[in-house]
Amino acid sequence: MSTPVTYDLDDEIAVITVDNPPVNALGHATRAALKDCVDRFAADETARIAVICGAGRLFLGGADVSEFGKPPQDPWLPEICTLIEDCPKPVVASIHGAALGGGLEVALGCHYRLALPGTKLGLPEVSLGILPGAGGTQRAPRVVGTDAALEMITSGKPVTPEAARESGLIDRVGEGKGSEAARAEGVAYARELLAEGAAPRPVSGLPRPAAPADGWDIWEQNLRRKFPGQVAQVQAMKAVKAATEMDLPDGLAEERRLFNELIDTPQREGLIHAFFIERKVARVPGLKDATPRDVQAIGVVGGGTMGSGIATAALLAGLPVTLVEMKPEAADKARATIESNLAGAVKRGKMSDAKRDAALATLTTTTDYGDLKDADVIIEAVFESLDVKKEVFTQLDAVAKPGAVLATNTSYLDINEIAQATSRPADVIGLHFFSPAHVMKLLEVVVADATDTDVTATAFALGKRLGKVSVRAGVCDGFIGNRMLSHYRSAADWMILHGASPYQIDRALEQFGFAMGPMKVADLAGLDIGYMTRQRKGKQPGVVYPQWADDLYGMERLGRKTGRGFYIYDDESPKGREDPEVLDLIAKERAAQGVTPRDFTGDEIVERYMAAMVNEGARILEDGIALRPLDIDVVKLMGYGFPRYRGGPMKYADMTGIATIRDRLNAYEDGSGFWSPAALIDTLAAEGRNFESMNND
Ligand code: 3HC
Ligand code: NAI
Repeated sequence: MSTPVTYDLDDEIAVITVDNPPVNALGHATRAALKDCVDRFAADETARIAVICGAGRLFLGGADVSEFGKPPQDPWLPEICTLIEDCPKPVVASIHGAALGGGLEVALGCHYRLALPGTKLGLPEVSLGILPGAGGTQRAPRVVGTDAALEMITSGKPVTPEAARESGLIDRVGEGKGSEAARAEGVAYARELLAEGAAPRPVSGLPRPAAPADGWDIWEQNLRRKFPGQVAQVQAMKAVKAATEMDLPDGLAEERRLFNELIDTPQREGLIHAFFIERKVARVPGLKDATPRDVQAIGVVGGGTMGSGIATAALLAGLPVTLVEMKPEAADKARATIESNLAGAVKRGKMSDAKRDAALATLTTTTDYGDLKDADVIIEAVFESLDVKKEVFTQLDAVAKPGAVLATNTSYLDINEIAQATSRPADVIGLHFFSPAHVMKLLEVVVADATDTDVTATAFALGKRLGKVSVRAGVCDGFIGNRMLSHYRSAADWMILHGASPYQIDRALEQFGFAMGPMKVADLAGLDIGYMTRQRKGKQPGVVYPQWADDLYGMERLGRKTGRGFYIYDDESPKGREDPEVLDLIAKERAAQGVTPRDFTGDEIVERYMAAMVNEGARILEDGIALRPLDIDVVKLMGYGFPRYRGGPMKYADMTGIATIRDRLNAYEDGSGFWSPAALIDTLAAEGRNFESMNND
């Protein structure tokens, strides 16, 4: 029977290899097999030293995250780390690829540590809403000092082998790459250690570390400021504090207590949901057998905010770009923007000077559509006007080579209609990037009625090359992200009309975890954008029309860019302060509609806003615009500032209870139809099911 951990002997050296693809996660069977191998080594009189290494692409990816929230099964990882540490013969960790979380904790249980160049060494548990629970918070500070350990543990960021060598986290940086090199280097190191007569060197033998240089209060304040609303970072700090105050066994017990508290939190559930759906989102139903078309060169039409960003993203990924603008000056301006974007990438260490120069040598900026003849994918990013876009697509149809993918970056418009402007609607698709397009990770791949499956597959393959998280969406006004946005913004408008202030709404939603409330977001995007959308869509039956926002537009208060919108932005308050005149405009509209304002609590604001968001998400599923609830969660997490630790709106609904959401919506319904629950919500609630049940492959 195959086992996830093997034991073999190389002379007097026992080699223990973990082989549990894809990432050697330490699930129950692997832990049990690892424990057996460590016991066997301890009892094996022919073996004088052991090397622990990993098969496949990395050493150990950490605990098996899918086991969290289920009943724990013996043996636990902390016991195994202690078993290794207490071994009477030396144990070496030989690390390649990555040692993350429990993986690094196993290495810290070992007596000697070697890592190959390019390896990631980290304790990323806080990004999953937990803390290192297999001794990491106790052993890391003893090995690298309290400040360095706090930095690693509370940021969750990995360090390089070189930095780890410097801090003492590892003893040696080996040579080579891959699992075979790790085994060979580990065995060679073990042989040297044997020759030197090296003894076990348990971390438990090291002295208790000192308190951090700046003191605990400063660390705690900084963590609360940097990670508002999140619990894991401060809890992890408390575990490290225990390392400075207790002996190892007591510290390990305290770490376990603090770890167990986090395991039970909704934040842990939300963050682990986010971890899995960000990976699952790429497995699009119906795309498994499709072959992407070959993509060697990109065309971009329109070099404004989005076109320049998209061109930058392609160049950063090593793809040559031809960008078409209307006038030579506009083409020059686009080139200057792209150059400055790439200079920023060099500054942030994402690209070398030489690579930047090479990328710029593959950029053509032009006013001639004919220059797009060699492009394999052409992405249109001109003004948001159906007529303009249709004209552009007619021109593209005339110049693009057969088989080229013709994509539009439209935010709202009907891609079926745009496709009809060409003789090849099967090649037309939406690629909805987010601003700034070379930074934001989200890409909505909008599949139109006639789009070929291999065109969709090409879009996903391109998204991956550009480093994006791509989500499949269908055609409707605003696709997944903007369609939902428009609905929950209307819920906010409803609350404003009935008595909530825009500032109260922002405060409540920021408290909930959004980086910015919706009114601040509107000010940042520019109030002209919302105005234009309202003009295009007109008044919708049952939906509150925010006349006050039109008034602000009429007064040329367009948000941040004009210094005034919902907020006032000036030297006194660069981040914005409340504007009593806005409240007057709202009061005027309430009076005009005969609405008597009432008080709203922060809880009601959040509950209504979220109920509206979930309700529209459910309708988007009913309409087939999103295939799975997880697609909606990924869009909101990656593109709309939804707090990651809440897992996304559909996960929020699951955690709140679908029946509760349904009951809230029914209670809110005021005859307008705006709040009435989607049929899917009624069905799921009646059947006692949740959205997660629709996420299965
Ligand atoms: N547990 C369970 N499954 C995991 C996993 C883990 N720790 N890490 C990765 N996987 C799964 C992924 O879900 C994915 O599954 P899929 O193919 O079915 O979608 C598959 O392994 C491959 O993962 P990636 O696509 O992410 O592979 P990459 O090669 O891009 O990245 C990695 C590899 C860097 C290891 C990355 O997967 C990663 O960061 N994993 C999480 C590491 C982590 O956070 N470890 C700490 C866990 S918590 C812990 O150890 C607690 C301890 O203190 C007690
Ligand atoms: P923008 O106004 O900054 O840029 C549009 C550019 O297209 C201008 O430089 C203009 O000269 C050029 N252009 C217009 N017609 C052209 C033609 N026929 N041929 C070549 N170039 C032409 O607009 P922005 O913000 O870049 O938006 C472009 C598209 O991207 C729109 O459809 C918009 O809805 C969408 N979008 C915008 C986002 C944003 O945050 N700005 C986010 C996601 C999508």
